[in-house]
Amino acid sequence: MTRRVLAILAFAGLLTGSPALAADGAKTFQFQCKTCHGATSTPMGPSLAGVSGRKIAGLSDFKYSAGLTAKSSMAWTDANLEAFLASPTKFAPGTKMMTGVANPADRAAVAAYLKGLK
Ligand code: HEC
Repeated sequence: MTRRVLAILAFAGLLTGSPALAADGAKTFQFQCKTCHGATSTPMGPSLAGVSGRKIAGLSDFKYSAGLTAKSSMAWTDANLEAFLASPTKFAPGTKMMTGVANPADRAAVAAYLKGLK
């Protein structure tokens, strides 16, 4: 089981073109994101599978806040993800996601990991 998960994470790394970075990001994701973000959307948070490039607040199976919905004319570009993860509440005042990733290196790693999340 563990081996299979590791293989999947390694593959996600390959897709981003930055395996080491994405592997670090996978760890951060496990600790800081996974409680709310699973493979499918739950009341705790929307699924982040395929989030890179997706329309902001774009899933129909999650009830987003008005704060994040206000940004839905834009997509999750690298720059928008960086800004959101740096400070969710600054990027989208009124968002239900209160904490991001303060450390820039961890943030870059998580962003690289998200890119490979299908
Ligand atoms: C306590 C629960 C919680 C944690 C922990 C959490 N999130 Fe979220 N996240 C949410 C919720 C809730 C939303 C929807 C926000 C809204 O509607 O304002 C969200 C939205 C998002 C979105 C936008 C998704 C979309 O469909 O537009 C991204 C990207 C995201 N989170 C990334 C992360 C990352 C990366 C982490 C870990 C560093 C993380 N989140 C940790 C609850 C959480």
